[in-house]
Formats: sequence, C-alpha cells, structure tokens
Amino acid sequence: MASARVQAINVADLRALAKRRLPRVIFDYMDGGADEEVTLRENEKAFAAVRFRPRGAVACEAPDLHATVLGVPIDLPFGLAPVGSSRLFYPRGECAAAEAAGKAGTIYTLSTLGGCPLEDVKGASTGRVWYQLYLMGGRDVTRAAIERARLAGYSALVVTVDTAVAGLRERDVRNGAKDLVSRRPLQMLRHLPQLMARPRWLADFLRDGGLMQFPNVVVNGAPMAYADVEAALQGSTVVWNDLAWIRESWGSLPIVVKGVLTAEDARRAVEAGANAVVVSNHGGRQLDGVSATLRALPEVVAAVGDRVDVLLDGGVRRGSDVVKALCLGARAVLVGRAFAYGLGAAGGAGVTRAIEILRSGMVRTLQLLGCPSISALDVSYVETPPDWPQAVSS
Ligand code: FNR
Repeated sequence: MASARVQAINVADLRALAKRRLPRVIFDYMDGGADEEVTLRENEKAFAAVRFRPRGAVACEAPDLHATVLGVPIDLPFGLAPVGSSRLFYPRGECAAAEAAGKAGTIYTLSTLGGCPLEDVKGASTGRVWYQLYLMGGRDVTRAAIERARLAGYSALVVTVDTAVAGLRERDVRNGAKDLVSRRPLQMLRHLPQLMARPRWLADFLRDGGLMQFPNVVVNGAPMAYADVEAALQGSTVVWNDLAWIRESWGSLPIVVKGVLTAEDARRAVEAGANAVVVSNHGGRQLDGVSATLRALPEVVAAVGDRVDVLLDGGVRRGSDVVKALCLGARAVLVGRAFAYGLGAAGGAGVTRAIEILRSGMVRTLQLLGCPSISALDVSYVETPPDWPQAVSS
C-alpha cells in the first residue's frame, strides 16, 4: 500500500486512525502510561515548553538530515524504538516496521518481546537493526538470544535498565489485558466484545495466527507464552554487573544502555561499558513522576556526551521535536508511539507515513530556523524554561 493513501497530516491523525482500527485493549496498551500518566504527559509538554530562536534571511534549500550514530552514517537523525508486541497492532508488525525503517535509511530496534522471529525482522530491513534486551528467562535463555542476534547481523544491543518490574498501566488492568491472555476461557469471555467491535483488526489478527508468542525468548525449547511474561519480567532485573557477561556474549559490537535519566546513571553506564546511552523513561510507562526526558537530556550530555553518543526518546511527535532534542545535545532520537500509531493505523504504510511526517517536519523546521544542517544545531537555537535544571558539567 502506498504511503500516500494514509490520510494523516500529523502523528495525532495517525493516533486517531489507530484508535479507530484497534480494539480498546490494544490501543490503550500502545497509548497509555503508568499510574497517573504524569510523566507520559510531561514528555510531550517539555517539547512544547522549549522555544526556538530562529535566524532570519538564511536560505537553506535542502537541509542536511544525515546523522552519525555509533560511528555509522544514517539518513535521518531518528530511529524506531523497541516496541513490544507490535505484531498485535498489525500482522507481522515487527517485520513491517523494520522494512519501513530500512527503506527510509534509518534504524529499527526489535524488542525482546517482539512477535516475529528476530531473523525474519533482520531480513525484512535493508538498513541497520538493533536488538533490545530484557533478561527474560534467565542468563542461558538471554545468551541464546544474544547469539542469535549476533549471527543474524544485528548491529547493536540495547540493554533496557528501567524495567526492574513492569509499571502499573492502569488502562491495561481496566481493559482486562491480563484476562485476555490468560488462556482461561471464562475470564477471557468478559472482554471479548471489545475485540468483536473491531472486525477488520480481528480478521487481520486471526489471519496472522491469533495470540502471538515470543519467538525470541525460547525457554525449554519453546517460545515464551504471553501469559508468562509478567512473571518472567519480575525475575529479570538488569544490574550494572550484568553488562560484563552481556558484553562477553555480544562481543565487540556496540552496547546501548536505554533508560538513563541522571548524570550518575549515565556515568555508571559508560563505566560498565556502554557505547551509547538513551535518555528515556520508557515513554512514561515505568516509574511515573520522573522528569520529562528533554528536561533530563542536558544533564546527561554534560556528564558523558564527550565520551559516548547520547540519544533520547519520549514524547517525540513532530519533526520540530527532533530538532529541539538535537539542539539540546542529543545525537539522534528514537520514536516509539509515533511509529506504533502508524503501524496500528495501516501497517508498514502507516509507519512510512509516520517517518515522512517527522522527516518533512524536520526539513521545514530547519528551513524556518535558518539552519542548513543538523550538524550545525546547538543550544543557541533554543530557549529552555527558566525553571529547568541547569546542566552541571562532569
Ligand atoms: C515500549 N517501550 C519499550 N521499551 C523497551 O525497551 N522494550 C520494550 O519491549 C518496549 N515496549 C514498548 C511497548 C509500547 C507499546 C510502547 C509505547 C513503548 C518503550 C519505547 O522503547 C520508548 O522508550 C518509548 O516508546 C518512547 O516514548 P514515545 O516515543 O512512545 O513517547
């Protein structure tokens, strides 16, 4: 399907289309955050709170968006963040998103909790693909996944450190998300009407094999079942010392630590061997009440930005948001919901549309800012709110 057929001017339009196509339980899983969703809202608000300081009368016909991340050139300074269970949003969702990212010349990150085999996802993309790691199922299970990712040609390992337990996503509880994957017919029955209310999604879901398992978490020779995920997450907290055996299994390719919000953690990550850090609060899905990522970014850049690449995710919905993050020191950003809405709306074509919305928004923003290249962006192009913490240099 051509991306031109996805009628969306902005990411909010893609969100509305996804909401129309997906059952409530699936849409809310994608859209929601933890507890009061304070951090979820703050991530977006932080972008709105930063003001541009443009330079007039500067002609930039074709602003340069090329970035270098982990020493490798990419066409766009944003990639796709790991989003678990993308296969619930659209048939073969992880493959579709990876393909769209590759076509756009950027990175796709496959979650440990993806629904497609990691080899298929790598094969679907013509670009770089990263593998995100949870220590689900213990060390041996994790080592086997790392080995598969290495052999399949993944170019970086993303270790998420903010998921000691799953955050409480209250919308999921209310919608009966757990009951629906419980394999207990009586519990499931209560929540089935919301699936029947979205016949187009239901037909796609059944055509794709129904309730997916996790083919990259292989426990006792079998892919982990949905119903076992929460318990497996409980026992899979990453601690800094784990980075040593993860490095040993992964070899010399880059390791990215995702889920850093302070200078202290950023330094710990680098000391533990990280080649990049992602300033991330998991899109407001884990500890509610932490800072917006854009607000935390300058502190992390000041602490480790001279040693490793600092990326950011959380709340990016527009090309101008990407520009603001780059002005405040991010080397690139990752987007989660922005592409997930597109996937839920229209599969790969929707992801392509999401990427195009962000790309064209960046081009326009740079032209209006009077900045010819993302490499020239710096803090002089923005004004941050006076009550934000001032970055303290290491
Ligand atoms: C996520 N995120 C995530 N992160 C991760 O490390 N492993 C995972 O499996 C998932 N799964 C996941 C599912 C869904 C539905 C969402 C929305 C997010 C977090 C993700 O990688 C990223 O940090 C946030 O999505 C960034 O915020 P935005 O862009 O969604 O606002």
